[in-house]
Amino acid sequence: MSIMQERIKELMDLRNQARLGGGERRIESQHKKGKLTARERISILLDEGSFEEFDMFVSHRCIDFGLDKQTYLSDGVVTGYGTIDGRLVYVFSQDFTVFGGSLSEMYARKICKVMEKALKVGAPLIGINDSGGARIQEGIKSLGGYADIFQNNILASGVIPQISAIFGPCAGGAVYSPALTDFTLMTKDTSYMFLTGPKVVKTVTGETVTEEELGGAYVHGTKSGVTHFVVDSEEEGILLIRKLLSYMPQNNLEEPPIVPTDDPIERKEDFLNEIIPEQTNKPYDVKDVLHAVVDNNEFFEVQRNYAPNIVVGFARFNGMSVGIVANQPNYLAGILDINASRKAARFVRFCDAFNIPIVTFVDVPGFLPGTAQEYGGIILHGAKLLFAYGEATVPKVTIILRKAYGGAYDVMGSKHLRGDINYAWPTAEIAVMGPRGAIEVLHSRELDEFKDSKERNAFLVQKEEEYREKFASPYVAAKYGYIDDVIEPRNTRFRVIRALQSLATKKDSNPPKKHSNMPL
Ligand code: HXC
Repeated sequence: MSIMQERIKELMDLRNQARLGGGERRIESQHKKGKLTARERISILLDEGSFEEFDMFVSHRCIDFGLDKQTYLSDGVVTGYGTIDGRLVYVFSQDFTVFGGSLSEMYARKICKVMEKALKVGAPLIGINDSGGARIQEGIKSLGGYADIFQNNILASGVIPQISAIFGPCAGGAVYSPALTDFTLMTKDTSYMFLTGPKVVKTVTGETVTEEELGGAYVHGTKSGVTHFVVDSEEEGILLIRKLLSYMPQNNLEEPPIVPTDDPIERKEDFLNEIIPEQTNKPYDVKDVLHAVVDNNEFFEVQRNYAPNIVVGFARFNGMSVGIVANQPNYLAGILDINASRKAARFVRFCDAFNIPIVTFVDVPGFLPGTAQEYGGIILHGAKLLFAYGEATVPKVTIILRKAYGGAYDVMGSKHLRGDINYAWPTAEIAVMGPRGAIEVLHSRELDEFKDSKERNAFLVQKEEEYREKFASPYVAAKYGYIDDVIEPRNTRFRVIRALQSLATKKDSNPPKKHSNMPL
C-alpha cells in the first residue's frame, strides 16, 4: 500500500468512526425509541447526495470528569450544507447518541459556523434538536456556547428563514434557540420542550406533571403556541420542512420562487356565491373559501390547532407565494382574542420580512370582551396585530366576506393600514359594531322605558333592521373608497390574482429608524 493509499484508508476509517456517533449500541437504543439518528434525518431532509459535511473531526477539549478519555468525532452534532429542491440550505442535526446530544463548547462552535455561513451567503438554516441540554461536564463553556447560538439566531432573524425541528428532548435554556427561529415543529410522543422539567416543577410549585403534559407536542401545538407544526413521525416532519421552504425566498433580499401551475386564473367557484349563510350569526368554514380560491386547492396551514379562531398559512395564486390570514367563523365566531392576535401578528411579520404578499379574508365580529382578556393584556396583543399590518410593506390584498366590526375592521388589513387592494363580497357588513350592540347603545333610554318585553323586542328588531340596512352592507365603505370594489364571490380567485399581479412591483417603505418599538 502506498503512503497515499494508507492516508486515504486512515481518512475513510476516521469518517466511518465519526458516522457511528456514540456507537452501535446507542444507535440501536435511538431506533428503539422510534427516533432516527442525526445523519439519517439529514439524509431524508436534503436532496440525495447533496450533503457536504463540516467539522467531522471536531471533538471536545474538556478534561474534567474523565472526559479526556471519552471523545467522539463530530462531538454530538452533525453540521454542513446541502440542497432542498436544488436550493441551498445549511443544517445542524444534534446527535443524541453522543453524550445525549448535550451541547459542549466545540459543539456550539460547529453550530455557530454553519449559522454564520448561512447568514453570509443568504441561505435558510435548519436546526434539528435532540439534546439533553448543556453538557454538564463543561459548565459555563456550554452556557456561553448557547448564548453564542442565540446571538446568531437573533442576527439571522428576518435575514434568512430559520426552522427548528424538535425530535427529542429540548429543555432548559436550550429552548430559546428554537423560540428565536421562525418556525418550530415537534413530533408527537418523542419530543418535549420546557424550561424546567417535572422534578423542578414538583419542588417549586408542588404540581405533579409528566413530561408530555408539561411540554409535549400537543401542549405546544394547542395551548402555548410554541410550536407551529405537530407531526406523527420524524419523516413527516422532515418532508414538511421541505414543503414549508418551497414558499419562501432564500433570504430577505430575494423574492419567493414562482411555481408554475395549470390551475386556470379565471377558475370560478359558483358555490362561493352561496357559502355565506343567510343568518349572519351562522358559522361556515373559512377554509372552504381558502381551498376554493388558491392554486390546486392547496393551503399549507401553520399553527392549525392553536387559536383556531384565526387561520394562517401559505398558498399560491397563479404560482405566486402568499401568506393567508383569515378569521374563522367556525370557531368562536372568528373573534379576535389574545392568542389569535399573537398568532396572526407573528405570521404577518414573517411574511413581510421575507417579501411574501399577505392576503386577508375578513369575517370578524370584533375583539373578545371580558376580564380574562383585559387582564391578559388584549390591548397590547391586539396592538401587535395592528402594528404588524401597519408596518408591513409587502403587497396586501384584503377581502371582507361578511362581518368587519369595530377595531377588528381596522386591524384586519384595512385600507387605513396601507392595505393595497381591498375588496368586499356583497354580504359584507362593515360597521362600528354589530346591529344588536349598536341599537342597545343608541336607544338605551327608550329601551329602558318599555314595560312590555314583546313591545321592547319588536322595537329592537325594527331598529336593528334599520341599522342593518344603513350600515350592514359594503356600500357605505365603498362610498368612501375604503374598499376598492364589491366583487362576486365566485370571481374571488381571479380578482385576487389580478390584484397581486398589479402589485408585483410595489415599492413601499417605513421611515428610517433603528427599529420600531412594537407593543411586545
Ligand atoms: C452530559 C448527558 C447529558 C448532559 C444526557 N447525557 N444529558 N451528558 N450532559 N446534559 C448523557 C447520559 O449521561 C447518557 O450517557 C446519555 O447522555 C443518554 O442519556 P440517558 O439519561 O441515558 O437518556 P434518557 O433516559 O433518554 O434521558 C434523556 C434525558 C436525560 C431526559 C435528556 O439524560 C437527562 O435528564 N439529562 C440531563 C438533562 C439536563 O438536566 N440538562 C441540563 C439542563 S440545563 P451514556 O454514556 O450512559 O450513554 C441547560 C442549561 C442551558 O441545558 C442554558 C442555556 C442558556
